[in-house]
Amino acid sequence: MIATIRRENQQVLLLDQNLLPEEVHYQPCQTHEEVAEAIRSLKVRGAPLIGVSAAFGMALAVQNYNGSEAGLPAYYDEAERLMASTRPTAVNLFWALRRMRSCFQAAAKSSREQLVSRLWQEAEAMYAEDIEINTRIGDHGQELLDGEVRIMTICNAGALATCGYGTALGVIRSAYRERKLNRVWACETRPVLQGARLTIWELMQDKIPVTLITDNMAAAVMRQESIDAVVVGADRIAANGDTANKIGTYGLAVLAAHHKIPFYVAAPLSTVDIELANGSLIPIEERDADEVRMVRGQYITVAEVEVFNPAFDVTPHELITGIITEAGVIKSPFASGLRQVLEVK
Ligand code: MRU
Repeated sequence: MIATIRRENQQVLLLDQNLLPEEVHYQPCQTHEEVAEAIRSLKVRGAPLIGVSAAFGMALAVQNYNGSEAGLPAYYDEAERLMASTRPTAVNLFWALRRMRSCFQAAAKSSREQLVSRLWQEAEAMYAEDIEINTRIGDHGQELLDGEVRIMTICNAGALATCGYGTALGVIRSAYRERKLNRVWACETRPVLQGARLTIWELMQDKIPVTLITDNMAAAVMRQESIDAVVVGADRIAANGDTANKIGTYGLAVLAAHHKIPFYVAAPLSTVDIELANGSLIPIEERDADEVRMVRGQYITVAEVEVFNPAFDVTPHELITGIITEAGVIKSPFASGLRQVLEVK
């Protein structure tokens, strides 16, 4: 399985996903500023991977600090602020930063060397846990599927969006292993084509049967190809189950309801934001207009046209059949189900 991020000596290597599928290139990052820039520019993307990359970035930040002891907390705050400013929607980023801060505070009295080593350990623990969590999500998810299923997905919620195995693609991988998968229909996912560039690439590497469709083909494919389930990832799940994911996900959920196709969200519990009552409170990132005006660096429209480019949309919980987590599948009513697995009173 291809590694999305790894530490090598004193630096972090990130698989540059903007270059895929043409080129497999690991960008070395020596500073947390470089990691922040890689998150902002989608070199690393996908909610779980954004979180783990930020954790590696914080370890780098403290490793590189050469100021006074007294100045370290303010420096840490500043580095954390930079990391938190990279992308607003995926809550895993803020979850990972909270976890790194607890580690930083717990080890604050140790030597600098020990502190740096504890931060690396924590970031690497998150990396390893993520793969294990995704395997569990995949295994719970495949139990929902019967026979040889045809699954539609959007964006990339795969190994490339995580530290390995993937969430939605984890369910697909487990279904394939159990010989329950007929084929995957992958939406190309405009504007930046995570489906066309990333999802089909990683599925084809694993020889999992996949057909690429453009986003506007989804309705026709649901009807003509008898899709059995839609499985997507998530960037943030509110307390009532409303889910933010890549723009276009809401549309797929509406279409799935019309065609009576189960619609599943696969995500780790770190994607649940129990503090947010519902999806209308989820901050939706708006990205650069040129992502819509251009495809892979070439204008496909008038360069000055006004553009609306929200990176995510919110699927209301009523349209979701189940949320597949590492702790099992949560069904409606999501509010009590989510509180129960998170052990929130
Ligand atoms: O803008 P991106 O590529 O970071 O968006 C990614 C998604 O929307 C994924 O579906 C989501 O983060 C889940 S990844 C396991």
